[in-house]
Amino acid sequence: MSPDGNSADGTTATASDATASDATAGAPRGTAHGKVILFGEHAVVYGVPALAVGIDRGAWAQVTEAKARADARADAKANEGEGGSVLHVRGWDVTVRELGAEDGPALGRAFRDVIAATRREQRAAGVSEIGDVRVEAEADLPPGGGLGCSAALGVAVARALDPSASGESIAARVDAWERVFHGNPSGIDAAVAAIGGCVQFTRGEGEARATIERVRVSEAIHLCIGHSGQASSTKSMVESVARIRERRPDTTQRTFDAIHTLVKNARLAIVDHDLRAIGQLLDLNQMLLSGLFLSTPEIEQMCATARTAGALGAKLTGAGGGGCVVALVSDAGKSADVLAAWKAEGFEGFAATVKPEVHDVREILQKLHERVTRATAGSP
Ligand code: MEV
Repeated sequence: MSPDGNSADGTTATASDATASDATAGAPRGTAHGKVILFGEHAVVYGVPALAVGIDRGAWAQVTEAKARADARADAKANEGEGGSVLHVRGWDVTVRELGAEDGPALGRAFRDVIAATRREQRAAGVSEIGDVRVEAEADLPPGGGLGCSAALGVAVARALDPSASGESIAARVDAWERVFHGNPSGIDAAVAAIGGCVQFTRGEGEARATIERVRVSEAIHLCIGHSGQASSTKSMVESVARIRERRPDTTQRTFDAIHTLVKNARLAIVDHDLRAIGQLLDLNQMLLSGLFLSTPEIEQMCATARTAGALGAKLTGAGGGGCVVALVSDAGKSADVLAAWKAEGFEGFAATVKPEVHDVREILQKLHERVTRATAGSP
């Protein structure tokens, strides 16, 4: 299911999604994007900007029962703490409670923290706080795949809890949720899950919020995303880079500086739709990530296979140590070639398109003008 209500293959909803809508028509609902980091993972944890795109797979959540805050408090007192909100994740068939034990499942603690953050912001804004809710949710992303599954689920839940909140505020609320799973997240996953599109993300320092800038995509960018078959833990990969940095601060800093330069060039290449340059920069970023011991033989194999099948560049995406590879291709036909080549080697994948964003009428006219000029130049 896509965050916009469309599945990745373009149909409108999955079977389980349809059931949810029938039972809860009109109930507060939240959706969120999965993300693909194109440039800058890991370095982003240390303040280097990163470029990422939202994909049309993600997560949804829906409030299926709600009790006013005052009634919920009275019930909790009467039932000696039995009250509180409940989250059920379909597909995984996991149910967690807001008032679960402190040493209970991480998902329960993450749910508790996002509810607390929502209530805090509602109190500060002087609007009524949410009471006890039952939330149904589902994620259409592989957990541990580097595509931001936990952040997408968190954003979908946070949105269902408070549909009128802005994307940036939702991303900030999900920070606490992400900390439960990832220890020291930069926040990029939650930001892209909430906002979608192509963004440049820079982590905030201290109390300062992160900087999230939209990057203009003028023509569709075609990506192939393939799974290496191994799940990886973002927390342990981030900790592994932290250990390398402790042992070799200067070398690691030079790697981060080089990634920073790639990100700056990649942003320009994306704006110019210079696919060859983006592809080369992806390959260079992969080399730098390998130098931080984040690649695996499967990831290297998938990158090489994608390039042989016609990809313009390929790299791991997300935490590495397993998870997914992203390959850039020139068009949908080439996507099919890369996916077929991966499949022949036993790797599953799917195609994703980053759609162009039109910002104003001048841009539409400019695009039209460019198309006409190209067509005229090409005619005999
Ligand atoms: C994980 O999707 C991206 C990392 O850079 C960690 C983070 O930014 O929190 C590896």
